[in-house]
Amino acid sequence: MSNVLCIEDQRKLAKKRVPKMFYEYADGGSWNEETYRANSDHLQNIKFRQRVAVDISSRSTQMPLLGQVRSMPVALAPVGLLGMQRADGEILAAKAAEQFNVPYTLSTMSVCSIEDVADKTEKPFWFQLYMMRDKDFMHRLLERAHEAKCSALMITVDLQLLGQRHKDIRNGLSTPPKLNPKTLLNLTLKPFWCMEMLRTKRRNFGNVVGHVKGIKDVASLSEWVSRQFDTRVTWNEVGEIRKKWDGKVIVKGIMDPEDAKSAINIGADAIVVSNHGGRQLDGTTSTVEALPKVLETVGNKCEVWMDGGIRTGQDILKVMALGAKGTLIGRAFAYGLGANGQSGVLDTLNILQNELDMTMALCGKRNLSEVDNSILL
Ligand code: GLV
Repeated sequence: MSNVLCIEDQRKLAKKRVPKMFYEYADGGSWNEETYRANSDHLQNIKFRQRVAVDISSRSTQMPLLGQVRSMPVALAPVGLLGMQRADGEILAAKAAEQFNVPYTLSTMSVCSIEDVADKTEKPFWFQLYMMRDKDFMHRLLERAHEAKCSALMITVDLQLLGQRHKDIRNGLSTPPKLNPKTLLNLTLKPFWCMEMLRTKRRNFGNVVGHVKGIKDVASLSEWVSRQFDTRVTWNEVGEIRKKWDGKVIVKGIMDPEDAKSAINIGADAIVVSNHGGRQLDGTTSTVEALPKVLETVGNKCEVWMDGGIRTGQDILKVMALGAKGTLIGRAFAYGLGANGQSGVLDTLNILQNELDMTMALCGKRNLSEVDNSILL
């Protein structure tokens, strides 16, 4: 029997197998990590109504997301540097998502490039874009995503500045890791990770290196990244990107009903209530606290999803009961990837689906169309 029974088991395994610098990059939040903790704490404060003696023999967790029926209301969130949790991480995660029939979102800051992931997968994936100053590069990224047949564009609007993450600074986070005595010592404790990393050619920001003039190595790249996030961006620029993308657009990073209205005004097909997993504005509310007001404002003008703190199928069910159409998971699948590669991501998805299915049943419901806030106390 597998000794991985829950996402917490995945986290512990990932911590053992992934070099500290990259494990903590994925696992950590900004400043005091108050908002990071609030995301999961507040989900745990919500309680279900147990119902009995209902025929729950035939059940399904299926849900349409942006018009396509998926195995459950979950998409894999864009996670930067996934290919550092495990060699070729983005390809492995995209394949697991494809196998499970949930969407995979490739981050701009991925290690495997758009073309690489498209080449190694059969079905369309989603692409995530940051608002950047280098307009040519940004537009070229859109073209590349279009050529790779990406079926939706996710625009991240809450990262014009990078929230300070103490752990990343202390760990001297770089991709690939800089070899000083401390990192070398840590790498000797992760021989399997090192062996796989030596076997792959994908050890840098694949979407950027070779596509931006003058970016050939890590040093100039990190400088480029800090110069590139555009602090002057307004909804006008986000709206321009919307117009350029001939397909579904998801706006991620909405916490306020006024911002939700702006996202609808520029023509978003979906918004994600997100505080970037507690990695940006520390001290803001949890996403589950922000969700009801955003839902009230949006009504049925676009799909509303939520991320942040989701570690169980119970969490997913609570978010659905509050009225969201779907959820994104980030750390939950990054841990699975670090723990066991593609099969680890599949383990994460299976664990969450089983928890979602059984919890729904114990609330007396057979499918997600029957689920609403009446299952909550
Ligand atoms: C990037 O999106 C990050 O949170 O590090």
